[in-house]
Amino acid sequence: MKYNALKGVHDILPPDIHIWQKVEDAAKDIFSVYGFQELRAPIIESTDIFVRSIGETTDIVEKEMYTFSDKADRRITLRPEGTAPVVRSYVENHMYNLPSPQKFFYSGPMFRYERPQAGRFRQFYQIGAEAFGVSDPKIDAEILSMLKLFFERIGLKDLNFQINSIGCDKCRPGYKKALIDFFSDRLEGLCPDCKRRYEINPLRILDCKVDACVKLKEGAPHVTDSLCGECQIHFDAFQDFLKSLDVPFVINPNMVRGLDYYTRTTFEVTCEHLGSQNAVAAGGRYDKLVQEFGGPPTPAIGFAAGMERLTTLLKSSSVDVVPSPKAFIAILGTEAERESLIISNRLREKGVWAEIGYSGNSLKSQLRRADRLSTEYVLIIGEDEIKSGKVKWKRLSDGSQGEVTLSGIYDFVSPPHRVL
Ligand code: HAM
Repeated sequence: MKYNALKGVHDILPPDIHIWQKVEDAAKDIFSVYGFQELRAPIIESTDIFVRSIGETTDIVEKEMYTFSDKADRRITLRPEGTAPVVRSYVENHMYNLPSPQKFFYSGPMFRYERPQAGRFRQFYQIGAEAFGVSDPKIDAEILSMLKLFFERIGLKDLNFQINSIGCDKCRPGYKKALIDFFSDRLEGLCPDCKRRYEINPLRILDCKVDACVKLKEGAPHVTDSLCGECQIHFDAFQDFLKSLDVPFVINPNMVRGLDYYTRTTFEVTCEHLGSQNAVAAGGRYDKLVQEFGGPPTPAIGFAAGMERLTTLLKSSSVDVVPSPKAFIAILGTEAERESLIISNRLREKGVWAEIGYSGNSLKSQLRRADRLSTEYVLIIGEDEIKSGKVKWKRLSDGSQGEVTLSGIYDFVSPPHRVL
């Protein structure tokens, strides 16, 4: 019987995993200097949480959620994104009683039943961050500059920061009306989903990927032309702060995002080298969501970056981050078996990656393995070495060699730090 991974999911194997870890480490380092702390939410949540927040008429809720009933007949969904669970946790744990802003980051798998293609998976990983309690557009700019620093730190280039404002409850009705007017004589040509969306949520038509709808939405009114005074002031200040922080951006008035919870600021970071699935990160404000989840009125903003897309870009720019052993203890004869085991174990206790040869492998094949692992030092131990108490070492990178005592191996391979 041969088993394969499910369609649209994938294993992350060495050496790729080292790129993943590098990205995760950089995110943790950078997000923490901006005051974000890790929050680990469950992967399963009540279906309702996603329906209420992402929106009933969105593609995610209509078509893409992995939803099932558990044994007690509860409706459960594998999280398709990370914002709703963090908001649920924020409200459930009364974190609105803590000083604002409360800032969190998370990373982990998300699940969407999408048509798999390059850069689009059914299980994919996001690194995201959410900040609660501040409506000041300074924090919107801080979040984008944090993203910029993160991308610079991991060596990503040729990124475009696109921003938009999709208004608030005050200006949205006017915009919806403008959209309804615009699509009223194009209704026949829309896909069945959009015909339905036209009545309930015309903004979603702008997000539809069906060819006919993409054509028909050309020339649709821009949300930025319907902003109320306060949203306009917020959007202008956001842009000003971005300029002060040297975050280059373009306004994309067509970007409405595929989730319903957004208010005011939305943004996407795209990369030219990624083909059609070119968004590496995306996010925005969701000033109403905490209240909808039963908390007090609390403005909030966040983003999520797609790990597969980030790591693909890093792989193509060939960042070499594969770690290698510091020492390989090759063995000659049975006497050396125990000695190599003890030496390697002591090295590991000191935090040094050590490998050993195993019985049944010729010296030649042991050395080949050391070489394939890009080991730094090879030490060969046989009967003679044990008797004399001295071992030959070879540094594979430059071919240099020498001798060290058995007891001196530890300091030789991993010199103690000098105390000044
Ligand atoms: P999103 O735009 O749905 O937003 O996803 C954010 C990022 O996740 C995308 O830009 C992309 O890099 C990655 N992504 C999404 N779907 C897939 C997929 N099927 N395969 C691979 N990568 C994917 C959100 O999820 C919001 N929760 C972001 C947010 C946080 N807004 C406010 N706070």
